[in-house]
Amino acid sequence: MKKIINDLSVYVSGNNESKTILFVHGFPFDHTMWQTQVDEFSKDYKCVSYDIRGLGESPAGDGQFTMESFVDDLEIILEELKLNRPILCGLSMGGYISLRALERMQESFSAAILCDTRSEADNNEGKLKRAAGIKRINKEGLAPFVKDFITNCFGDDFKQNRKEALQNIIEKSLQFNPVGVKGGLFAMLSRSDTTTSLGKINIPTLIICGEQDTLTPPPVMKEMFHKINKAEFVEIPKAGHMTPIENPQAVNKAIRDFLIKNKL
Ligand code: MLT
Repeated sequence: MKKIINDLSVYVSGNNESKTILFVHGFPFDHTMWQTQVDEFSKDYKCVSYDIRGLGESPAGDGQFTMESFVDDLEIILEELKLNRPILCGLSMGGYISLRALERMQESFSAAILCDTRSEADNNEGKLKRAAGIKRINKEGLAPFVKDFITNCFGDDFKQNRKEALQNIIEKSLQFNPVGVKGGLFAMLSRSDTTTSLGKINIPTLIICGEQDTLTPPPVMKEMFHKINKAEFVEIPKAGHMTPIENPQAVNKAIRDFLIKNKL
Protein backbone atom coordinates (compact mmCIF):
# COMPACT_ATOMS: atom_id res chain seq x y z
CA MET A 1 0.00 0.00 0.00
CA LYS A 2 1.34 3.41 -0.99
CA LYS A 3 0.97 6.34 1.42
CA ILE A 4 2.07 9.93 1.16
CA ILE A 5 3.80 11.08 4.34
CA ASN A 6 5.33 14.56 4.52
CA ASP A 7 5.14 14.60 0.68
CA LEU A 8 7.20 11.38 0.44
CA SER A 9 6.05 8.18 -1.26
CA VAL A 10 6.02 5.47 1.43
CA TYR A 11 5.20 1.80 0.81
CA VAL A 12 3.82 -0.49 3.51
CA SER A 13 3.27 -4.23 3.10
CA GLY A 14 3.13 -7.47 5.07
CA ASN A 15 1.79 -8.33 8.48
CA ASN A 16 0.55 -5.20 10.23
CA GLU A 17 0.77 -6.86 13.67
CA SER A 18 4.42 -7.88 13.27
CA LYS A 19 7.70 -6.15 13.86
CA THR A 20 8.68 -3.71 11.13
CA ILE A 21 11.72 -3.71 8.87
CA LEU A 22 12.29 -0.19 7.57
CA PHE A 23 14.27 -0.17 4.30
CA VAL A 24 16.26 2.89 3.20
CA HIS A 25 17.61 2.78 -0.36
CA GLY A 26 20.85 3.97 -1.94
CA PHE A 27 21.69 6.71 -4.44
CA PRO A 28 20.51 7.22 -7.17
CA PHE A 29 17.89 4.50 -6.78
CA ASP A 30 14.41 4.25 -5.25
CA HIS A 31 12.46 1.94 -2.93
CA THR A 32 12.22 -0.76 -5.63
CA MET A 33 15.85 -1.73 -5.04
CA TRP A 34 14.52 -3.61 -1.97
CA GLN A 35 11.75 -5.44 -3.87
CA THR A 36 13.15 -8.95 -3.38
CA GLN A 37 13.65 -8.34 0.35
CA VAL A 38 10.17 -6.83 0.74
CA ASP A 39 8.65 -9.81 -1.12
CA GLU A 40 10.47 -12.25 1.16
CA PHE A 41 10.04 -10.54 4.53
CA SER A 42 6.50 -9.27 4.14
CA LYS A 43 5.49 -12.93 4.57
CA ASP A 44 6.10 -12.54 8.31
CA TYR A 45 7.14 -8.93 9.01
CA LYS A 46 5.69 -5.53 8.29
CA CYS A 47 7.90 -3.97 5.61
CA VAL A 48 8.17 -0.23 5.08
CA SER A 49 10.20 1.32 2.27
CA TYR A 50 10.10 4.81 0.82
CA ASP A 51 11.58 7.04 -1.83
CA ILE A 52 14.13 9.40 -0.31
CA ARG A 53 13.28 13.04 -1.01
CA GLY A 54 14.32 14.00 -4.55
CA LEU A 55 14.49 10.39 -5.83
CA GLY A 56 11.86 8.02 -7.22
CA GLU A 57 8.38 9.46 -6.75
CA SER A 58 9.28 11.73 -3.85
CA PRO A 59 9.41 15.39 -4.87
CA ALA A 60 12.68 17.25 -5.31
CA GLY A 61 11.37 20.64 -4.19
CA ASP A 62 14.28 23.06 -4.15
CA GLY A 63 16.84 20.22 -3.87
CA GLN A 64 18.45 21.78 -0.81
CA PHE A 65 18.97 18.54 1.12
CA THR A 66 21.29 17.57 3.94
CA MET A 67 21.81 14.19 5.59
CA GLU A 68 20.15 15.83 8.58
CA SER A 69 17.01 16.68 6.60
CA PHE A 70 16.95 13.10 5.27
CA VAL A 71 16.99 11.85 8.90
CA ASP A 72 14.23 14.35 9.77
CA ASP A 73 12.16 12.74 6.98
CA LEU A 74 12.87 9.26 8.38
CA GLU A 75 11.83 10.40 11.86
CA ILE A 76 8.53 11.76 10.54
CA ILE A 77 7.81 8.40 8.83
CA LEU A 78 8.49 6.62 12.16
CA GLU A 79 6.11 8.97 13.96
CA GLU A 80 3.35 9.01 11.35
CA LEU A 81 3.28 5.21 11.01
CA LYS A 82 3.72 4.83 14.81
CA LEU A 83 6.49 2.31 14.22
CA ASN A 84 7.59 0.64 17.45
CA ARG A 85 11.38 0.22 17.35
CA PRO A 86 11.67 -1.14 13.80
CA ILE A 87 14.71 -2.88 12.39
CA LEU A 88 16.49 -0.22 10.37
CA CYS A 89 17.99 -1.49 7.10
CA GLY A 90 19.94 0.95 4.93
CA LEU A 91 22.21 0.57 1.92
CA SER A 92 24.99 2.99 1.04
CA MET A 93 23.38 6.49 1.17
CA GLY A 94 20.57 4.74 3.03
CA GLY A 95 23.33 3.55 5.36
CA TYR A 96 24.58 7.13 5.86
CA ILE A 97 21.02 8.09 6.80
CA SER A 98 20.78 5.06 9.10
CA LEU A 99 24.12 5.75 10.81
CA ARG A 100 23.15 9.35 11.53
CA ALA A 101 19.70 8.20 12.69
CA LEU A 102 21.41 5.76 15.09
CA GLU A 103 23.59 8.60 16.37
CA ARG A 104 20.52 10.80 16.91
CA MET A 105 17.91 8.31 18.14
CA GLN A 106 19.26 4.79 18.60
CA GLU A 107 16.48 4.09 21.14
CA SER A 108 13.93 4.27 18.30
CA PHE A 109 15.29 1.06 16.71
CA SER A 110 15.64 -2.55 17.86
CA ALA A 111 18.35 -3.60 15.38
CA ALA A 112 20.26 -2.31 12.37
CA ILE A 113 21.28 -3.80 9.05
CA LEU A 114 23.96 -1.76 7.30
CA CYS A 115 24.63 -2.77 3.70
CA ASP A 116 27.51 -1.55 1.53
CA THR A 117 28.04 1.70 3.38
CA ARG A 118 30.66 3.53 5.45
CA SER A 119 30.77 5.77 8.54
CA GLU A 120 33.49 8.11 7.23
CA ALA A 121 32.46 11.41 5.65
CA ASP A 122 33.75 12.23 2.16
CA ASN A 123 37.42 13.20 2.05
CA ASN A 124 38.56 16.07 -0.20
CA GLU A 125 38.87 13.79 -3.22
CA GLY A 126 35.36 12.49 -2.62
CA LYS A 127 33.94 15.99 -2.22
CA LEU A 128 35.54 17.13 -5.47
CA LYS A 129 34.15 14.05 -7.24
CA ARG A 130 30.63 14.94 -6.04
CA ALA A 131 31.14 18.55 -7.17
CA ALA A 132 32.25 17.26 -10.59
CA GLY A 133 29.08 15.14 -10.71
CA ILE A 134 26.88 18.19 -10.05
CA LYS A 135 28.77 20.14 -12.71
CA ARG A 136 28.41 17.28 -15.19
CA ILE A 137 24.63 17.09 -14.66
CA ASN A 138 24.39 20.87 -15.18
CA LYS A 139 26.39 20.63 -18.39
CA GLU A 140 25.31 17.33 -19.96
CA GLY A 141 21.96 16.57 -18.31
CA LEU A 142 21.26 13.61 -16.06
CA ALA A 143 21.84 10.67 -18.43
CA PRO A 144 25.65 10.39 -18.73
CA PHE A 145 26.17 10.84 -14.98
CA VAL A 146 23.47 8.33 -14.01
CA LYS A 147 24.62 5.71 -16.54
CA ASP A 148 28.24 5.86 -15.36
CA PHE A 149 27.40 6.08 -11.65
CA ILE A 150 24.96 3.16 -11.64
CA THR A 151 27.14 0.94 -13.83
CA ASN A 152 30.03 1.50 -11.41
CA CYS A 153 27.86 0.34 -8.50
CA PHE A 154 27.49 -3.20 -9.87
CA GLY A 155 29.97 -6.06 -9.77
CA ASP A 156 31.37 -7.82 -12.83
CA ASP A 157 29.08 -10.85 -12.53
CA PHE A 158 25.93 -8.73 -12.69
CA LYS A 159 27.28 -6.46 -15.44
CA GLN A 160 28.19 -9.43 -17.62
CA ASN A 161 25.20 -11.71 -16.99
CA ARG A 162 22.31 -9.34 -16.23
CA LYS A 163 22.70 -6.67 -18.92
CA GLU A 164 18.95 -6.18 -19.40
CA ALA A 165 18.26 -5.85 -15.67
CA LEU A 166 21.03 -3.27 -15.39
CA GLN A 167 19.61 -1.34 -18.32
CA ASN A 168 16.15 -1.33 -16.70
CA ILE A 169 17.55 0.02 -13.45
CA ILE A 170 19.38 2.79 -15.33
CA GLU A 171 16.24 3.64 -17.34
CA LYS A 172 14.25 4.02 -14.11
CA SER A 173 16.76 6.42 -12.57
CA LEU A 174 16.92 8.46 -15.79
CA GLN A 175 13.32 9.49 -15.00
CA PHE A 176 14.37 11.17 -11.74
CA ASN A 177 14.40 14.93 -11.34
CA PRO A 178 18.00 16.23 -11.85
CA VAL A 179 17.38 18.73 -9.04
CA GLY A 180 16.74 15.83 -6.66
CA VAL A 181 19.79 13.86 -7.84
CA LYS A 182 22.04 16.90 -7.38
CA GLY A 183 20.48 17.46 -3.96
CA GLY A 184 21.42 13.89 -3.00
CA LEU A 185 25.01 14.48 -4.10
CA PHE A 186 25.15 17.66 -2.04
CA ALA A 187 23.71 15.93 1.04
CA MET A 188 26.34 13.19 0.77
CA LEU A 189 29.28 15.54 0.29
CA SER A 190 28.23 17.65 3.27
CA ARG A 191 27.41 14.78 5.64
CA SER A 192 29.07 14.41 9.02
CA ASP A 193 31.41 11.57 9.99
CA THR A 194 29.70 9.01 12.24
CA THR A 195 32.79 6.86 12.99
CA THR A 196 33.24 8.02 16.58
CA SER A 197 29.65 7.00 17.37
CA LEU A 198 30.02 3.40 16.15
CA GLY A 199 31.19 2.31 19.63
CA LYS A 200 27.94 3.66 21.09
CA ILE A 201 25.74 1.40 18.95
CA ASN A 202 24.33 -1.15 21.37
CA ILE A 203 21.63 -2.84 19.33
CA PRO A 204 22.25 -6.00 17.26
CA THR A 205 23.79 -4.91 13.97
CA LEU A 206 24.32 -6.86 10.78
CA ILE A 207 26.95 -5.60 8.36
CA ILE A 208 26.56 -6.80 4.77
CA CYS A 209 29.15 -6.21 2.04
CA GLY A 210 29.45 -7.46 -1.53
CA GLU A 211 32.77 -9.22 -2.22
CA GLN A 212 33.14 -7.17 -5.44
CA ASP A 213 32.06 -3.85 -3.89
CA THR A 214 34.58 -1.23 -5.01
CA LEU A 215 32.76 1.78 -3.46
CA THR A 216 32.60 0.49 0.12
CA PRO A 217 34.85 -2.58 -0.12
CA PRO A 218 35.02 -5.40 2.44
CA PRO A 219 38.12 -4.05 4.29
CA VAL A 220 36.33 -0.70 4.90
CA MET A 221 33.20 -2.43 6.15
CA LYS A 222 35.19 -4.85 8.30
CA GLU A 223 36.73 -1.87 10.11
CA MET A 224 33.25 -0.59 10.80
CA PHE A 225 32.21 -4.06 12.00
CA HIS A 226 35.10 -4.16 14.51
CA LYS A 227 33.98 -0.83 16.03
CA ILE A 228 30.37 -1.90 16.72
CA ASN A 229 29.74 -3.96 19.89
CA LYS A 230 27.06 -6.43 18.83
CA ALA A 231 27.88 -6.65 15.15
CA GLU A 232 28.06 -9.51 12.68
CA PHE A 233 29.71 -9.32 9.27
CA VAL A 234 28.55 -11.20 6.18
CA GLU A 235 30.33 -10.98 2.84
CA ILE A 236 28.04 -11.61 -0.13
CA PRO A 237 29.57 -13.61 -3.00
CA LYS A 238 29.10 -12.63 -6.65
CA ALA A 239 27.96 -9.09 -5.74
CA GLY A 240 29.29 -5.55 -5.94
CA HIS A 241 27.85 -2.52 -4.14
CA MET A 242 24.19 -3.39 -4.79
CA THR A 243 24.05 -6.67 -2.87
CA PRO A 244 20.22 -6.86 -2.42
CA ILE A 245 19.78 -6.71 -6.21
CA GLU A 246 22.87 -8.64 -7.26
CA ASN A 247 22.60 -11.63 -4.94
CA PRO A 248 19.18 -11.40 -3.25
CA GLN A 249 19.18 -15.02 -2.09
CA ALA A 250 22.40 -14.57 -0.10
CA VAL A 251 21.26 -11.21 1.31
CA ASN A 252 17.87 -12.61 2.32
CA LYS A 253 19.54 -15.57 4.00
CA ALA A 254 21.93 -13.29 5.91
CA ILE A 255 19.02 -11.12 7.08
CA ARG A 256 16.85 -14.13 7.98
CA ASP A 257 19.68 -15.76 9.99
CA PHE A 258 20.31 -12.45 11.80
CA LEU A 259 16.62 -12.00 12.65
CA ILE A 260 16.32 -15.57 13.96
CA LYS A 261 19.55 -15.41 15.97
CA ASN A 262 18.52 -12.15 17.64
CA LYS A 263 14.88 -13.25 18.17
CA LEU A 264 13.62 -10.25 16.21
C1 MLT B 1 24.91 4.81 -2.92
O1 MLT B 1 24.82 3.69 -3.44
O2 MLT B 1 24.04 5.26 -2.16
C2 MLT B 1 26.09 5.68 -3.28
O3 MLT B 1 27.02 4.93 -3.97
C3 MLT B 1 26.71 6.28 -2.08
C4 MLT B 1 27.86 7.19 -2.39
O4 MLT B 1 28.03 7.61 -3.53
O5 MLT B 1 28.60 7.51 -1.46
